[in-house]
Amino acid sequence: MHSPSASIVVFAILPHLAASLSSLYVQNAPNHIRPYVIEHYASAQAISIGQQIYRFPVTGPSSGGAFSLLSTSSPSSNELGVLPHHHQTHHENFFCLKGRFQLWAEDEARLLTVGDYGSVPRNTTHTFQILDPDTEMVGSISPGGFEKLFFFLADANYTSSTHSPYVPAPSGNGSSGSPPAAVITALESFDVYAELNFTARRDLVDGSAPSGGWHSTPNILPEVNGTPYFVAKDYGPKFLNCEFGYQIVQPFVTDVTGGGDFTQGSITMSRRSSNTTTPTYTLLGHTAFEVLEGALSLTIEEETVTLIMGDVAFIPGNTSFSYWSDVVFTKVMYVSAGVNGLDQKLLKKAESWGWPVFPAV
Ligand SMILES: *[C@@H]1O[C@H](CO)[C@@H](O)[C@H](O)[C@H]1NC(C)=O
Ligand SMILES: *[C@@H]1O[C@H](CO)[C@@H](O)[C@H](O)[C@H]1NC(C)=O
Ligand SMILES: *[C@@H]1O[C@H](CO)[C@@H](O)[C@H](O)[C@H]1NC(C)=O
Ligand SMILES: *[C@@H]1O[C@H](CO)[C@@H](O)[C@H](O)[C@H]1NC(C)=O
Ligand SMILES: *[C@@H]1O[C@H](CO)[C@@H](O)[C@H](O)[C@H]1NC(C)=O
Ligand SMILES: *[C@@H]1O[C@H](CO)[C@@H](O)[C@H](O)[C@H]1NC(C)=O
Repeated sequence: MHSPSASIVVFAILPHLAASLSSLYVQNAPNHIRPYVIEHYASAQAISIGQQIYRFPVTGPSSGGAFSLLSTSSPSSNELGVLPHHHQTHHENFFCLKGRFQLWAEDEARLLTVGDYGSVPRNTTHTFQILDPDTEMVGSISPGGFEKLFFFLADANYTSSTHSPYVPAPSGNGSSGSPPAAVITALESFDVYAELNFTARRDLVDGSAPSGGWHSTPNILPEVNGTPYFVAKDYGPKFLNCEFGYQIVQPFVTDVTGGGDFTQGSITMSRRSSNTTTPTYTLLGHTAFEVLEGALSLTIEEETVTLIMGDVAFIPGNTSFSYWSDVVFTKVMYVSAGVNGLDQKLLKKAESWGWPVFPAV
């Protein structure tokens, strides 16, 4: 029998208790492939570039080169966060976890609010600007290893006894913007090709230039790889899987738009009911989860942990795991290496669904 008061206690205490008890919790992405969990903001491997703080929950070494997952926490800025550039071999994916930022990709631009996603494929000129005082951009980058750039550009290693997202400091104290042009133009060995002639369009009125209406009409994902695109929170395709309670899969990156290298999206799940047995998965490729809402329970091999917003779990391929929610509404972002990820398994048994919430019965 589920007891609401017990649930509140578990929700409040378990992550911290688990952090001290479970060997899954680490402070840095490991330098080899293994299952692990990193608590939001607690990552010890963090660096500063101006006022931007970068953290690296999944790295090239921790994912065997499959993908990296990093975050940028920053105050708002009246400058571009980096000068315009492209990458020849890395596909970069932007997700707004907190606050707002503007993202330019070739001649399109969007103002991303919480839950919005933007795809920047190889050879796409792009830049961004942080707009809100507590913004967190989450980047997934395929293949893995792109963090080497940020270690190279770092002004300093970031440590904070309170794990503050970034250092609160008067504006103007520390650059909120990009390293200078002379630095950006000398980064080709890191797969950064400066595009200093790129003009970041400034005609965003409702966050939707130039196509209009991304936050009011359905967003359709391209059927080819290589063009930039954007998915507004809950306006992309949605699929309902009813095998083990309700799960709604919202793909950002499909087996096609990820070029076969990775898929990404979100899974929303209802509370596990007492008569449901959650399945155990053993997938060929690696999986990362980052919690967006609610609380995700995970058993990886023999250990069970509960993750809350911003916490990241990494599950190597060929490692058994099961997952569920003990709270009513949980939403997680997933990144899967290859094209045989959890999303593909759920989608095979799902139907097209018009809503970001599960059925009321
Ligand atoms: C990206 O541009 C480089 C240099 O022009 C080219 O060699 C490469 O094939 C391009 N990659 C893609 C995916 O288009
Ligand atoms: C950060 O720490 C690493 C090792 O812990 C060191 O190699 C590196 O130089 C430091 N970076 C900066 C910018 O101080
Ligand atoms: C800038 O911030 C540093 C600490 O981050 C502080 O020591 C320094 O006094 C600040 N400078 C100004 C002008 O506020
Ligand atoms: C950038 O613009 C400058 C001045 O208009 C021009 O001289 C230069 O060739 C341009 N560079 C590229 C890469 O297009
Ligand atoms: C499981 O429980 C739910 C309510 O918690 C109920 O709607 C459903 O019919 C039950 N399923 C089975 C197979 O008993
Ligand atoms: C999992 O095992 C299969 C079959 O042995 C292998 O092809 C695959 O590369 C393994 N996956 C990982 C991530 O090691």
